[in-house]
Amino acid sequence: MTDKSLNYDRLSGMLGEFGQEHVLRHWADLDAEQRENLSEQLKGIDLSELASLVSGEDKATDFAGLAMRAGSPPAVRADGSGAHWSPIQARKRGEEALKNGELGAVIVAGGQGTRLGFDQPKGMFPIGPVSGRTLFQFFADRLLAVNKKYGCRIPLYIMTSDATDQQTRDYFAANDNLGMPVEDLHIFKQGVMPAVDSGTGKLLMESRSSLALSPDGHGGTVSALDRSGCLTDAVSRGIQHLAYIQVDNPLAQLCEPELIGHHLMAASEMTTQVVRKRDPMERVGNVVLVDGQVQIIEYSDLPKSAAEALNEDGSLKLWAGNIAVHLFNVEFLCGVAEQANSLPFHRALKKVPYCDERGQVVSPVQPNATKFERFIFDLLPIAQNAFVVESLASEVFAPVKNAEGAKTDTPETAKKAIADLHRGWLEQAGACVDQGVRVEINPMLALSADDLSEKIGANLRIDADRYFDTKIESGE
Ligand code: UTP
Repeated sequence: MTDKSLNYDRLSGMLGEFGQEHVLRHWADLDAEQRENLSEQLKGIDLSELASLVSGEDKATDFAGLAMRAGSPPAVRADGSGAHWSPIQARKRGEEALKNGELGAVIVAGGQGTRLGFDQPKGMFPIGPVSGRTLFQFFADRLLAVNKKYGCRIPLYIMTSDATDQQTRDYFAANDNLGMPVEDLHIFKQGVMPAVDSGTGKLLMESRSSLALSPDGHGGTVSALDRSGCLTDAVSRGIQHLAYIQVDNPLAQLCEPELIGHHLMAASEMTTQVVRKRDPMERVGNVVLVDGQVQIIEYSDLPKSAAEALNEDGSLKLWAGNIAVHLFNVEFLCGVAEQANSLPFHRALKKVPYCDERGQVVSPVQPNATKFERFIFDLLPIAQNAFVVESLASEVFAPVKNAEGAKTDTPETAKKAIADLHRGWLEQAGACVDQGVRVEINPMLALSADDLSEKIGANLRIDADRYFDTKIESGE
């Protein structure tokens, strides 16, 4: 018997136990490299875990029951109420932590961005309403500005996936790491999960020699940070807290001092920034407190009655909408890294092209596949003193999810949100911005309205689209 047939027998036995031996149906036509590729992919899959996911053994959560017991989480509200410290005290504390070099930054950029339909990683999407800067540039500029303001060097850990890794690396290499020192930039790759046929639970093949694999969700961040050595790197630099954002929110205030301060004042292992929901059934995760634990109930799991429940003053009982901006205590992450595999999986029904019995690739018209993803927010219930900070959506949230033409969360809605925010900063600082004009401010010039007011001359009138990067000429 040859090595190859031995390999086949072993794989076939292992797969047969779980009813998945169909993935070897084209084995005889594969060359050595293709066989090797397929067996490597199969080695990375926990077939028994997959079998229990397919059978739904883990789907026991009674969200309706949870929602009935859910209430407001421990939070500081946008007006500063809810905490026994003030926003000013929080800001001061956060600034100290930045100056002490206690912060690192994580951007998750491994998603496939299927809804946006952009053929490059989402981080490379040009989002600057006037400058055309990319999402990656937005965050690199912001970190460089924070470094300059507080005299620190924040390391940036960017999570990619098979879908985005190479192009992301090439992009940073071709653009001088967007100005970031090479020692402060780490690109690391998340894990994968197989997609299965949603009717039969059978593994889907992308080609004759390759499974249909997808990134394992942003919940894969913890194990990927650990596996890649980024967590060890952070610890060795004396980083105590990691600020986490998603690449597709250009208004995300990465390493914002007030948010950091609240996290520290609350002695929290995980703090999450939220915005007030605009309506009860808004399509965001609901950050709630259930049985003493902060957790998120997805909008799709929230019964209407619970979503619409009101407080005595007429405000929504479940008011806190998740925007996926978090702060983590590094020690906490190190502690959970070992058990990160115990985070639950969530299911999503998606369209996944697949290779059929004849070896033909089929592009389904309807969703045909179940994908399994871990979500980072499932760390909230296990964090000590998990805490919530409310901010205004107009200042912190402009997601880029859908292709142009959709009603919400498109590049155009995000560009408008950026330009509107920056217009407000300029007007607050005394400038006059003509109607219909779009403005954009680079963080190197100002990280906030307050920063800007120190830099702007009297009688500034802006009558055409303008991008301000490092200075504003007075009287322009
Ligand atoms: P989404 O869940 O919105 O997914 O990711 P997406 O890939 O951007 O878009 P769709 O759903 O395919 O249209 C939210 C954030 O989490 C990151 C994404 O890059 C985005 O910043 N993410 C998501 C990962 O890093 N890895 C994942 O496996 C999933």
